[in-house]
Amino acid sequence: MLPAEVIRTKRDGGALDAAQIGAFVRGLVDGSWSDAQSAALAMAIVWRGMDRHETTALTDAMTHSGEVLDWRAAGFADRPVLDKHSTGGVGDKVSLMLAPIVAACGGLVPMISGRGLGHSGGTLDKLEALPGYRVDPDRATLHRALREAGCAIIGAGPTLAPADKRLYALRDVTATVESLPLIVASILSKKRAAGLDALVMDVKFGSGAFMVEHAQAAALAEALVDVATAAGLPTRALLSDMNQVLGHHAGNALEVAEALAFLKGERQEPRLLALTLDLCAGLLHAGGLAATVAAARDRATAALAEGRAAERFARMVAALGGPADVLATGFGLPMAPVQRPVPAPADGHIAAWDVRSLGLAVVALGGGRIKPGDRIDPRVGLANVKALAAPVARGEALAWVHAADESSAAAASAAVLAACTLVPGIAPAALQTQGRGVIHT
Ligand code: URA
Repeated sequence: MLPAEVIRTKRDGGALDAAQIGAFVRGLVDGSWSDAQSAALAMAIVWRGMDRHETTALTDAMTHSGEVLDWRAAGFADRPVLDKHSTGGVGDKVSLMLAPIVAACGGLVPMISGRGLGHSGGTLDKLEALPGYRVDPDRATLHRALREAGCAIIGAGPTLAPADKRLYALRDVTATVESLPLIVASILSKKRAAGLDALVMDVKFGSGAFMVEHAQAAALAEALVDVATAAGLPTRALLSDMNQVLGHHAGNALEVAEALAFLKGERQEPRLLALTLDLCAGLLHAGGLAATVAAARDRATAALAEGRAAERFARMVAALGGPADVLATGFGLPMAPVQRPVPAPADGHIAAWDVRSLGLAVVALGGGRIKPGDRIDPRVGLANVKALAAPVARGEALAWVHAADESSAAAASAAVLAACTLVPGIAPAALQTQGRGVIHT
């Protein structure tokens, strides 16, 4: 089957059949499709779209382009295999809490996570702030972590969905990321290859999300649920608001510290708590570990409140090479040498945050990568970022910048000020509740 004929069919608005899609995916893996041909088809898909059958066929072919994990064969037959995926945001440390909570409720959570992408943070980068933590354990270490903790947050490795690895890298540099069928196939192929029994998706909208408009995010959520369900993977999707930093902090070590305080019950930002418990509830219910979503939420709440989730997290970190007792204070989370408040220029309330700019400020501080392979500085970020609608007095900190030096701190302070819309008076009621609720699909 000639690549040019497949590209021509899509270019002219035709639907591709499973054989054509299979040829494309094989070509991605064995190199028989060139970068130019693969990117040309991706661009044709961006313009012409794909129907449900094509999207499902693409997801299937990409899922089977590499290894498909079999947890039963690996000796984990007793528990449902569960995972969560977020479309990415700023301050989104939910995975660090969700994995141990779900493990404490009886799920097996081999959570395949990613690195930072653009302005959004990555779970693997966050965990690497823990001295010694290995995101690429050998199989024996991974299995030991899963046996001891019930969860292991790790990277995908080269064998899972290799077609996505090549296609994603091409899309990244050819302006072909923003395509609903390509995003659906990319996300779900990795999740299905991870051998899951159920999945929960956190689909974000707002100024810090990749899908800014609520309607775009809702369409993505619907497509993800439809395609996953058709493939036999029970999936729930929640839509959540990314018009402000999730939780208090954004930055790798800062977010790990926040997650630890959350798991220990010391400090739980209400929106972060609500979203974490809602995602846990959706996943536990989808995975058959609770009869109703309400019962699932109660189970998750108890696992958190009783410290069982914190203990699972500590076991996971120790098994994957991190500190032996991560719940004890002073185990060595790195701290930034420069910590400066960003004073509010006037009295008023926070009417809006440009959250994407806040994420980019963290990247510029060294908390993310400007080009592939850059080293991350785990110490840097933004701490105690004021919530949307919060009242502020002149001179009060809108956020604290954690930086490696004075000049990067000054640049980040300017970025925070520019990202903040401060309006005189008290916030309207609608703004005060924005983002508190999670929209269930
Ligand atoms: N995340 C993915 O894994 N793939 C996409 O295409 C977009 C977000």
